[in-house]
Amino acid sequence: MVQSTVLLNSNIRNHINFPTNQLKSSTKSVKDKVFNLINPQIGKNTQKPIISESLRLCKCGRRHLVEAIAGTVLQTCLPSFALEPTSSAKEMLKKIHPPRSDWYEEFYASVLNNSMNEYEAEIAGYKSQLFEELRRLQAKQVLEIGIGTGPNLKYYATHASMVYGIDPNAKMEKYARKAAASSGLSPENFKFLQAVGEALPLDDASVDAVIGTLVLCSVNDVNRTLQEVKRVLKPGGLYMFVEHVVANDGTSLRLLQTVLNPLQQLLADGCHLTRETGSYISQAGFSSVDSSTTYISSFLFVNPHLYGIAHK
Ligand SMILES: C[S@@+](CC[C@H](N)C(=O)[O-])C[C@H]1O[C@@H](n2cnc3c(N)ncnc32)[C@H](O)[C@@H]1O
Repeated sequence: MVQSTVLLNSNIRNHINFPTNQLKSSTKSVKDKVFNLINPQIGKNTQKPIISESLRLCKCGRRHLVEAIAGTVLQTCLPSFALEPTSSAKEMLKKIHPPRSDWYEEFYASVLNNSMNEYEAEIAGYKSQLFEELRRLQAKQVLEIGIGTGPNLKYYATHASMVYGIDPNAKMEKYARKAAASSGLSPENFKFLQAVGEALPLDDASVDAVIGTLVLCSVNDVNRTLQEVKRVLKPGGLYMFVEHVVANDGTSLRLLQTVLNPLQQLLADGCHLTRETGSYISQAGFSSVDSSTTYISSFLFVNPHLYGIAHK
């Protein structure tokens, strides 16, 4: 497994000192305790993967067998599509994200809008230093894929002259618009487009930066989405990401993720717990990828998180 835990290096390291002590001191809530059971090193937030060796079970392969069986038996029946490269953005939207009931889309958007405060507070230090890079490079045309309710806009909206936010769920638009307005973006400088990452409705080499947070877990085709990201980026453009990824092989956390993965996909609109997103990003053909991992206690088993920047 090529788990991408490349430590920040080269150029980015000169500009970004990711916080190592962002985790709030534990209030010993039930959630903390559960998380500590899963990962006893929480609170020692580092830039290296911190799954404890003691959590690795026997080396005889029993864990792998259980994982394989759980994965096979419980594999979700959500469809996966072979995508036609020539399909238009609209056709792809229909294919990849067939219209769900209005109430479901509204429900999911409102849950997302109301349930992420703790997570956003915990990840804020990472995001602000990551997005600082956009200001430094004076990125003017910015695209956010899977923008959801727009929690990232406040970090970069004031530096950009045009922000495109794409999301297949049209019910996200009102939240994203509100977030754009309160971040100081005028309506003409923010465009919400109902589309999927696999077929971006933008021209080749048209944006300075692409942002994606907690979205590669949900797209139908990660490789295709990353190729689209590269296509729309100008040469030298940046792709900035914060994604939850599968835990290290052989850990209790990974086993738990394998078991819960089908349920997670059903409850969280197709979100996968077991994606090796770091491998996808590092193999997508970017000229450089600088990334690191951390653990977010409020996200329990949805850990670790990979964050960083790739250059086209
Ligand atoms: C967990 S939410 C994250 C939203 C936001 N980026 C954030 O950080 O809060 C995942 C988002 O990805 C969107 N999404 C799902 N499938 C997608 C696809 N194929 N392309 C782009 N976005 C997608 C969902 O509608 C949702 O808004």
